[in-house]
Amino acid sequence: MQPPTVHLVGAGPGDPELLTLKAARLLQLADVVVHDRLVGEGVLALIQPRARRIDVGKAPGRHALRQEEINRLLLELAAPDRVVVRLKGGDPFVFGRGGEEALFLLRHGIAVEVVPGITAAAGCAASALIPLTHRGLATGVRFVTGHCREDEPLELDWHGLADPETTLVVYMGLAQIDRIAARLIGAGLPPATPAAAIAEGTTARERVVRAPLAAIGEAARAARLGSPTLFVIGRVVEALAVPLEAPRPAAGLARLEVAGHA
Ligand SMILES: C[S@@+](CC[C@H](N)C(=O)[O-])C[C@H]1O[C@@H](n2cnc3c(N)ncnc32)[C@H](O)[C@@H]1O
Repeated sequence: MQPPTVHLVGAGPGDPELLTLKAARLLQLADVVVHDRLVGEGVLALIQPRARRIDVGKAPGRHALRQEEINRLLLELAAPDRVVVRLKGGDPFVFGRGGEEALFLLRHGIAVEVVPGITAAAGCAASALIPLTHRGLATGVRFVTGHCREDEPLELDWHGLADPETTLVVYMGLAQIDRIAARLIGAGLPPATPAAAIAEGTTARERVVRAPLAAIGEAARAARLGSPTLFVIGRVVEALAVPLEAPRPAAGLARLEVAGHA
């Protein structure tokens, strides 16, 4: 008999073909799937019809479950021989509160398995042809959150982050991007530093906007980018910029299927 277990599974950034084999297998086996709003429809389609699906994400006009309520729900659902999947966008341990859920469950004697997912930074950067590190342009990469409460200042290590040798990826930064850009520039990052805003990365609705750091907020607004949007700041944004329109694959594996290789 399997002890009560919750599988904390990363759903990746949207494209279902970016799921790990392990995640796809667990979705096939799941008796119940507790998922967030950010999990793409293509991924949710892999859940078996017999499985119970519980959406705990925020949808317009609908109350989202608070974190404590989600923790309690997972605890209630966990039972011997029941496959409980907690499906989270991207990677469960990158700005996903997966650590909090795992800690709560472990403290209550529930076994936890974590299945990593492709985090938005890796997925969106790949899709937009932005290498997060690149010899001669960036020796490191940092993931930060741009989220803060309305009434609170965004406190990050601006001087540490304003490093032209390091790529900066900002999650949840859409509402704060002007403040973030201003603080980075104030801390010494050149206003002309290349930046990109990637909305709905890796999905059919993906949009990529590039602009110098000083203008990226305005460019994102002009393009009416919505949630989810990720910002990449650093010289790597222009690393693969080529003068001619480079050929792009149609849509991942679809191209190979058309060519008869699938
Ligand atoms: C609460 S965080 C969750 C991050 C997730 N755990 C991960 O590893 O990607 C949500 C933020 O991730 C970013 N994000 C997630 N999926 C994205 C996508 N497909 N395109 C662009 N940004 C995305 C956005 O910045 C969004 O505000």
